[in-house]
Amino acid sequence: MMDESNPYLPYVVKIEDAWFETPGDRAIKTFKVNFVDDKVWDTWSHSPGQCAMVGRLGVGESMFCISSAPSEEGYLRFSIMRMGKVTCALHELEAGDTMTVRGPVGNSFPLEEWEGKNIVTVGGGIGQAPLRPVINYIRSNRDKYSDLQVIYGARTKEDHCFKDEFGEYNQEGTACHLSIDVEEEEWSHFVGFVPNLLMEVAPSPENAVAVTCGPPIMIKFVIQNLEKLGFAPEQIYTTLEERMKCGIGKCGRCNVGHLYVCKDGPVFSYATLKDIPEAFA
Ligand SMILES: Cc1cc2nc3c(=O)[nH]c(=O)nc-3n(C[C@H](O)[C@H](O)[C@H](O)COP(=O)(O)OP(=O)(O)OC[C@H]3O[C@@H](n4cnc5c(N)ncnc54)[C@H](O)[C@@H]3O)c2cc1C
Ligand code: FES
Repeated sequence: MMDESNPYLPYVVKIEDAWFETPGDRAIKTFKVNFVDDKVWDTWSHSPGQCAMVGRLGVGESMFCISSAPSEEGYLRFSIMRMGKVTCALHELEAGDTMTVRGPVGNSFPLEEWEGKNIVTVGGGIGQAPLRPVINYIRSNRDKYSDLQVIYGARTKEDHCFKDEFGEYNQEGTACHLSIDVEEEEWSHFVGFVPNLLMEVAPSPENAVAVTCGPPIMIKFVIQNLEKLGFAPEQIYTTLEERMKCGIGKCGRCNVGHLYVCKDGPVFSYATLKDIPEAFA
């Protein structure tokens, strides 16, 4: 849990390992970190979908989802795309360096409510980061859920995050469907945008929940297509990534309609968001 006496106080974490998931100007780097003060684990708990403010001392902090599941014990993972001031400074850090973590922040996916259901995750690019803990949570509680369908796309083969894990997803009751935007050599999976891959897979809405995260335009068309497949707004969940400052409902920076993404979210059902036009702007 965040330090209730001072929610602005970050924990110092040491980077145990760091690697690039994707190349390029907007590279994504994953950091596997552990608390310098081991006692923090006695009170820390997080659930899939929750986030944390991650920072570099002297530079600043930004919000990132915790991309490891609680079952991955003894460390946290963050997968960070290089965008600007804070993320460039974080990308300079390597194993052995320290960074700060303030959190966990926000709500989480209602995974207990979803027990017994078929789960479909639909991700694009870095949007797979909040879906990875959902997938790993279900994989470590396999008897509590029905089928798991992982639908994930990126611009190119190299732009997929968590490539090493795709093979593990194809277990009994779990299927992994991948896409890239344009044809490449030695690509045997779907070619096209994620909303089209969704229609190709065409998951049934029967006893199902769909969770989607990615660029806003992708989310918009994924939700339209889920509705065409018969999913009701209450069966569709997403996470929003509005720009944030305080992360604790004080500064008013992150509002979408009457909702604060940091306090009321970042996880929302489409039933909550469908009448708020700014949510998918
Ligand atoms: C709840 C939540 C979860 C997030 N999870 C992740 C994650 O797991 N991995 C990840 O890489 N990023 C994630 N983000 C986005 C991340 O917080 C921003 O990329 C980061 O704050 C950029 O900081 P910066 O100082 O490097 O960029 P800045 O210097 O502040 O900005 C650089 C550029 O990025 C744009 N930008 C900054 N923040 C956002 C944003 N939130 N949405 C769209 N454009 C933005 C700016 O407009 C500007 O063009 C998340 C954001 C939220 C709110
Ligand atoms: S980030 Fe300050 S109110 Fe949400």
